[in-house]
Amino acid sequence: MQPHLKRAFTLLALVIIAFILVRSLVVPGSFGQYGWYRGDSVNELRNLTVNYAESTSCGGENCHKIIYDVWVKDRHKTVNCETCHGPAEKHVLNPRETLTPANDTREYCGKCHFKQIARPELFPQIDPDTHGQDLRCVYCHNPHKPWFV
Ligand code: HEC
Ligand code: HEC
Ligand code: HEC
Repeated sequence: MQPHLKRAFTLLALVIIAFILVRSLVVPGSFGQYGWYRGDSVNELRNLTVNYAESTSCGGENCHKIIYDVWVKDRHKTVNCETCHGPAEKHVLNPRETLTPANDTREYCGKCHFKQIARPELFPQIDPDTHGQDLRCVYCHNPHKPWFV
């Protein structure tokens, strides 16, 4: 074999060996156990703490049934309790674990309702500079039944 070919083949062999070595060091052990991902990730995800409880769990007989029944029939039924009140799993398991009060600032309602050119025209939007003076939105709107207090 020509010496320059020998050199090229040795170099190629070294590159391949280096690749296999580095790969065996950086690829996690459980990779490929089930498929093209880490097998361990299945358990890691299963063990994540659940923070949200779902709106239906707020509407139990001895809980917030009145508010729930109002909410579920009104325009905000697509906005879950926990969107405004925060994650409530702990509170559902133990009612003594109180939630921090819902954010009732104009800015919070405005995240969805301040006029923005990017929003669908039919979505209810208001101009924050002219609507409702400078009062909090809940001064006039019931958050659970936005038409009206
Ligand atoms: C759009 C946001 C929003 C949604 C959705 C929402 N809430 Fe509220 N909620 C508020 C705000 C804001 C207040 C405080 C009202 C005020 O300051 O007058 C409040 C007050 C309450 C209170 C009274 C707390 C207190 O003691 O003052 C309860 C209980 C409550 N909400 C339960 C629920 C339940 C149950 C749901 C779902 C069925 C829900 N909320 C959905 C925003 C919301
Ligand atoms: C996460 C987004 C979100 C937040 C936060 C939110 N809303 Fe809404 N709001 C909605 C959706 C969705 C509707 C229903 C729109 C529809 O039916 O087309 C709605 C409907 C309304 C309506 C009825 C408008 C109509 O024309 O019937 C009012 C009023 C309203 N919201 C006020 C509020 C107030 C006040 C707050 C703060 C306490 C608030 N919203 C917070 C999403 C939101
Ligand atoms: C002083 C009372 C008052 C306050 C405060 C107030 N609103 Fe209203 N809102 C009204 C009245 C009255 C209407 C119906 C007439 C109109 O469209 O102006 C209305 C209508 C709306 C609508 C429906 C608009 C549409 O075209 O469908 C939305 C959404 C709304 N308000 C959201 C809010 C938000 C968000 C805040 C806080 C940033 C807020 N409002 C503060 C009185 C108020």
